[in-house]
Amino acid sequence: MKLLLLHLSIFFSILFTSLPSSQSCTANDKNALLEIKKSLNNHPLLSSWNPQTDCCTGWSGVECTYGRVTYLTLSSKKFSGNIPPAVTKLRSLDTLFFKYSNFSGPIPDNISDLKNLTYLGLSENQLTGPIPGSLSQMPKLLAIHVNDNKLTGSIPNSFGSFVGNVPGLELSNNRLSGKIPESLSKHDFNVVFLSGNSFVGDGSMFFGRNKTTIQVDLSRNKFQFDLSKVKFARSILTLDLSQNQIFGKIPQQLTNLRLERFNVSYNRLCGKIPRGGFLQTSEPSAFSHNLCLCGIPLVKAC
Ligand SMILES: *[C@@H]1O[C@H](CO)[C@@H](O)[C@H](O)[C@H]1NC(C)=O
Ligand SMILES: *[C@@H]1O[C@H](CO)[C@@H](O)[C@H](O)[C@H]1NC(C)=O
Ligand SMILES: *[C@@H]1O[C@H](CO)[C@@H](O)[C@H](O)[C@H]1NC(C)=O
Ligand SMILES: *[C@@H]1O[C@H](CO)[C@@H](O)[C@H](O)[C@H]1NC(C)=O
Ligand SMILES: *[C@@H]1O[C@H](CO)[C@@H](O)[C@H](O)[C@H]1NC(C)=O
Repeated sequence: MKLLLLHLSIFFSILFTSLPSSQSCTANDKNALLEIKKSLNNHPLLSSWNPQTDCCTGWSGVECTYGRVTYLTLSSKKFSGNIPPAVTKLRSLDTLFFKYSNFSGPIPDNISDLKNLTYLGLSENQLTGPIPGSLSQMPKLLAIHVNDNKLTGSIPNSFGSFVGNVPGLELSNNRLSGKIPESLSKHDFNVVFLSGNSFVGDGSMFFGRNKTTIQVDLSRNKFQFDLSKVKFARSILTLDLSQNQIFGKIPQQLTNLRLERFNVSYNRLCGKIPRGGFLQTSEPSAFSHNLCLCGIPLVKAC
């Protein structure tokens, strides 16, 4: 009998610890969510956020782990105004996903208080102001997705020293400008999307033979650097440098790599396209509109 009870208690402790949502929402997180609801004028889309019920059960866009809110998504063009300040009170958040919403104003500086956040997703809103330098203080961050907003300023200097992970950067289609801090060269960014901004100067700090770069898109900016000197990681799969003011030659090293996407059109490149690898089988449009590139696949002979 004793043994049976022991087995039963083990059974129940396994049952309950393996059902994280069975634990009810902590008061702190519930209050923060209700504050968020209030700052969104108690929007009807949040009618499931009923103060009488457990915020870990049936509140739309909310997920919990052991009674703490770890996931929050607000995705509707009907959500507007500033990012609700109370999101910074959801201390256990892992994922903040406000995509396709209509939030305006700045990204709050103290969003960096969310030390467990791995994913910051604020794409496709109307956000203005700078990218907060404090984001470099978030040790677990894996991805910063703030593309398709109206952000201004440059990449913060502090992005040369992340306290933890080096996150993927998706900053495309904003109003960002200026030079990229040289200090970023010591980091190994796997994914960098800067397309459709007004960045100037050097963009080569994202590359390096010993890195584990996978995707880099610097297209549609005003970058000016010598491509001849750039060494690429063997891991790179996507390289879009089109529509900049990049000069020099196409490096021979590219003939040894296996890129899935490649575009250097609309720059100031010169010289013969090296023979080998994917280069000759690429579309001519990947090389068009340069200063004096020549050789296959371009019609212009050298
Ligand atoms: C973050 O700052 C906003 C004001 O900018 C404030 O309302 C909010 O309470 C702050 N969050 C925390 C956790 O202190
Ligand atoms: C952050 O995550 C760790 C590991 O998952 C967890 O132990 C810790 O309690 C979390 N912190 C907060 C504030 O929830
Ligand atoms: C988005 O917010 C702006 C104000 O920032 C407003 O003018 C516009 O109508 C809103 N769009 C939608 C689809 O609600
Ligand atoms: C790359 O790694 C090799 C071998 O580990 C090393 O000899 C070389 O100095 C490194 N190059 C750079 C630029 O760090
Ligand atoms: C390269 O980029 C240019 C300009 O953005 C575009 O017109 C062209 O179709 C692209 N070519 C390839 C192969 O991606």
